[in-house]
Amino acid sequence: MADVTLEALLEEGRTFAPSAEFVRDALVHDGSLATAADADVEAFWAAQARDLLDWDQDFHTVLEWDLPYAKWFVGGKLNVSYNCLDRHVAAGHGAQVAFLWEGEPGDARAITYAELLAEVCRTANALRALGVEKGDRVALYLGMVPELPIAMLACARIGAAHSVVFGGFSADSLRDRIKDADAKLLVTGDGAWRRGSVVPLKEIADEAMAEAPSIERCLVLRRTAHEGVPMQDGRDVWWHDVVASQPSECAPVPMDAEDLLYLLYTSGTTGKPKGIMHTTGGYLTQVAFTHKYVFDLHPDTDVFWCTADCGWVTGHSYIVYGPLANRTTSVIYEGTPDHPDKDRFWSIVAKYRVTTLYTAPTAIRTFMKWGTEYPDRHDLSSLRLLGSVGEPINPEAWVWYWQHIGGGRCPVVDTWWQTETGAIMISPLPGATVAKPGSATFPLPGIGAEIVNDEGDAVSIPGGGYLVLTQPWPSMLRGIWGDPERYRETYWSRFFGRYFAGDGAKRDADGYYWLLGRVDDIMLVAGHNISTTEVESALVSHPAVAEAAVVGKTDETTGQAVAAFVILRSGNEASHRLVGELRDHVAEVIGPIAKPKSVLFAEDLPKTRSGKIMRRLLRNVAEDEALGDTTTLADPNVVAGIKARYLADAPDDEE
Ligand code: WT7
Repeated sequence: MADVTLEALLEEGRTFAPSAEFVRDALVHDGSLATAADADVEAFWAAQARDLLDWDQDFHTVLEWDLPYAKWFVGGKLNVSYNCLDRHVAAGHGAQVAFLWEGEPGDARAITYAELLAEVCRTANALRALGVEKGDRVALYLGMVPELPIAMLACARIGAAHSVVFGGFSADSLRDRIKDADAKLLVTGDGAWRRGSVVPLKEIADEAMAEAPSIERCLVLRRTAHEGVPMQDGRDVWWHDVVASQPSECAPVPMDAEDLLYLLYTSGTTGKPKGIMHTTGGYLTQVAFTHKYVFDLHPDTDVFWCTADCGWVTGHSYIVYGPLANRTTSVIYEGTPDHPDKDRFWSIVAKYRVTTLYTAPTAIRTFMKWGTEYPDRHDLSSLRLLGSVGEPINPEAWVWYWQHIGGGRCPVVDTWWQTETGAIMISPLPGATVAKPGSATFPLPGIGAEIVNDEGDAVSIPGGGYLVLTQPWPSMLRGIWGDPERYRETYWSRFFGRYFAGDGAKRDADGYYWLLGRVDDIMLVAGHNISTTEVESALVSHPAVAEAAVVGKTDETTGQAVAAFVILRSGNEASHRLVGELRDHVAEVIGPIAKPKSVLFAEDLPKTRSGKIMRRLLRNVAEDEALGDTTTLADPNVVAGIKARYLADAPDDEE
């Protein structure tokens, strides 16, 4: 392929069929799964549930569908940690490595299934000793250390639901999530490593716990071992003091298929994060199913690496639950792609002979920017399959990934899904689907998807509109914690009877699905869901700010970047210093990922006569596009003024 240029590949609009070599060993190389699912979708999922998992008690009903509430595998009982650990050890695979953990330079740890089981049991016993009972919620706030999946599995073992909060979130974000979940115990660490320096997790957690009275105990892992970590008597205990001394056996509690496995918070358009609920049997069935077939998993020979953080759903489903249910050997990486150097990912791939890499378009675009010299330094010949998730992948990035990382040899699976869907929904099956760069191709077997217009009618092919899901699926969210009305309203009211995903999409003449990004007020920054309202509220909480409007602006690296328009309170003056202060303020309130890339001070914001900010126009300004229809504006001059200022004061690209 060496003499074929990128441009030529893209211009050809060519398709990428898997090689004969890949197809020969692939689990799926034809349409048989889809045929089975089309014939009887409930029988199909029932067969998957029984084939992929061990049940303590078989289910009597596959699906009870009381729109918009689904119950899957009713009457069934199982334990998630048993399915991820005990059964593999019992089958003689105790010595197989479950996690190859690559810590900040210098640290590395290989953990076998037998060791992981023992550690999960000790941790489960420790949680019980600290008062956690079946049905409780436990908040987890850690970096990417093995103890994070261990704590998740320990919760699952005793029937407590976990709520993982990404270690980069602020004290306020942590506090809000703990309070909403009414969590009883918090697991955190003294610190987390980030590019060679320490993030003081415990101090941040203390700030959050000060305003979150539901927390009774706090279990603290020693990771960075820096001086002066505050410990509160009677509340805080060290992991090494209470976990190590526990017995390494703990009977898994049989759970109902519909018992809560976890909560995971995701941004909502009205600002307050939504606690997405995932339950036991359906979730584990579909994450195991998709992990096995989308990643063509060969458990005896594959080394799987999902580069996400366990703080996001991708980490829940494809670092912890899917891979362990399928007895996978996985890499977990604590650090960042550019520390100590920009070849870190490729040195890890070479070191562990990674066969399957699952990462995000924002990372791929960054690698493209850094250049091929970094992957070229390492032997990447172990790779046989590549995956992408988090946002639409540009065809250029897809082809670059395929060529420079996959050596023109590995299929690329572009996987569309959401926190709410729990598992991959639209994706190629790598041994059976002919891929097109930039398209997630087709809904997986058992998944019903459609593209509809404003009226909710399916569009003809080719055509575009809103992506909806037409039938319940096993790993679908079971609701929003504590807010059933919002669940119905957000997902099930826009198109009656169908799930509204919030994404625009089109289908081409061959029926392929192309995802086009969010249609609501959610921005996708480096693949993370950030709501415009949330950032606006953070800005307005700064004493200098009277009003703020935020939009997502196309960004070469992060997909979208946060562009903020701010009206100052009188007595405050626009300055570069204030720009910096506001950006830091947002990082402080929400977390660094929400930091605006640009801040423009304006006298006024474009508003409709009813006072609604027209973000569409601000988006036009940020993207330097022609302003659309401005006739509904109260004062059309406002936006023209902002546009002139915006161009004169073009945002800098410092990050
Ligand atoms: C939103 C969900 C699912 C794990 C990570 C994000 C966008 C995700 C793709 C893809 C186009 C994608 C959608 C979706 N998205 N994957 N392959 N192609 N868009 O989870 O934070 O819940 O975000 O991410 O817009 O709605 P999330």
